[in-house]
Amino acid sequence: MQKIIIEGGQRLKGEVQVSGAKNAALPLLFATLLTGGTHRVGNVPDLRDIDTVEKLLSILGARVSRQNGTFVVDSSAIQSEEAPYDLVRTMRASVLVLGPLLARFGHARVSLPGGCAIGARPINLHLKGFEAMGAQITLDHGYVEARAKKLKGARIYLDSPTVGGTENLIMAAALAKGTTVIENAAREPEIVDLAQALIAMGARIDGAGSDTVTIEGVDELRPMDYQVMPDRIEAGTFLVAAAMTRGDVRVIGAQADHLEGVLSKLREAGVEIMEEEGALRARGPRRLQPIQIKTRPYPGFPTDMQAQFMAMMAISEGTSVVVENVFENRFMHVCELQRMGADIAIEGHTATIRGCRTLKGAPVMATDLRASASLVLAGLAAENTTEVSRIYHLDRGYEGIEAKLRLLGARIDRVPA
Ligand code: EPU
Repeated sequence: MQKIIIEGGQRLKGEVQVSGAKNAALPLLFATLLTGGTHRVGNVPDLRDIDTVEKLLSILGARVSRQNGTFVVDSSAIQSEEAPYDLVRTMRASVLVLGPLLARFGHARVSLPGGCAIGARPINLHLKGFEAMGAQITLDHGYVEARAKKLKGARIYLDSPTVGGTENLIMAAALAKGTTVIENAAREPEIVDLAQALIAMGARIDGAGSDTVTIEGVDELRPMDYQVMPDRIEAGTFLVAAAMTRGDVRVIGAQADHLEGVLSKLREAGVEIMEEEGALRARGPRRLQPIQIKTRPYPGFPTDMQAQFMAMMAISEGTSVVVENVFENRFMHVCELQRMGADIAIEGHTATIRGCRTLKGAPVMATDLRASASLVLAGLAAENTTEVSRIYHLDRGYEGIEAKLRLLGARIDRVPA
């Protein structure tokens, strides 16, 4: 076990490079299961979740090698169609093997993920979509099993715009017979990235990034050669780090069109945001202004930036409000921020944050990925020393975060716990 130690109070300055997006890399790597041959996926971040994908692909029989962020996957000789509990419980996105395996082999068996720290996170909408495409779904011993000789195109309305559900169904529909229309689809940029990779593989997909995606099934796909998009949530996290430390940081690879909700709220808080060639630059004000955010599916304000913004609100001048609409239990960071002196009251899905002048360093515990990022941010802005433990959560989603922050002038170290 390791922990991160931060001596707060440094103004962050300089340039930082955003890594490839975790939430785009995961579905892209699973999409290599759709067809045999040698796939190349570049700009893959070095993260714990990516290690889990590598393990899972290998268990299924794919040959995987990785070097400098490029994955070479040969999925010609798949021997198993089962994602075991041990892997699925460490990474819920493992359910994304269902669509590709079902479409290619007519069968897949995946452990049901169960709840997680931020909410119940069911996969009922994924399954309903597969059923509409003619699959038979059974549940046995905690595993969900899907069977279909040949998936058939269908009209699928998603009750809520699920990101993983949209990705799973697009992958399945790529090899189905006939046309699939997904209505009320999720519109996240990671879905567009997946669709672009699939189109390069020979899939016929229209409308990814809008709420209606149409997929014309094809008989065959070819292997992909694709570069993962930059991580918009990592980028947003660095922008908040600059904002909270009165810093001046150029975030290379950050794309304004992926971050509109985040940028408009940062500007409202008094942060100067400059759009530069291939980068975004943030300059934090002397004192941040209070704001209100409501998380929503894309293009709304992302739930994956909520915890980081709450750390920022904790040191703003006045009262801010957060309404979390996407996950029912995504306030686990609140108790830890309170240990650092934040004044936060929760009622249902709403948190009211009364800003204080400064947070105070304390030992705190990470509870999930974005919660851990918010604690690191709080530590950067706090007086004295903050120790963040259980940082394996952080390592699921932020590549080399302490090295990147150190380059910006933070006093941050990783030590054995
Ligand atoms: N939902 C259902 N039924 C379903 C699927 C989802 O009711 O079948 C509900 C969920 O319970 C939740 C909402 O729909 O309330 C949204 O869930 P969604 O399926 O969109 O989330 P996901 O695909 O499981 C992805 C990201 C999350 C991110 C969410 C929302 C990946 C691998 N994960 O999860 O990322 O928070 O979309 O944007 O893409 C993170 O990176 O820290 C993270 C949690």
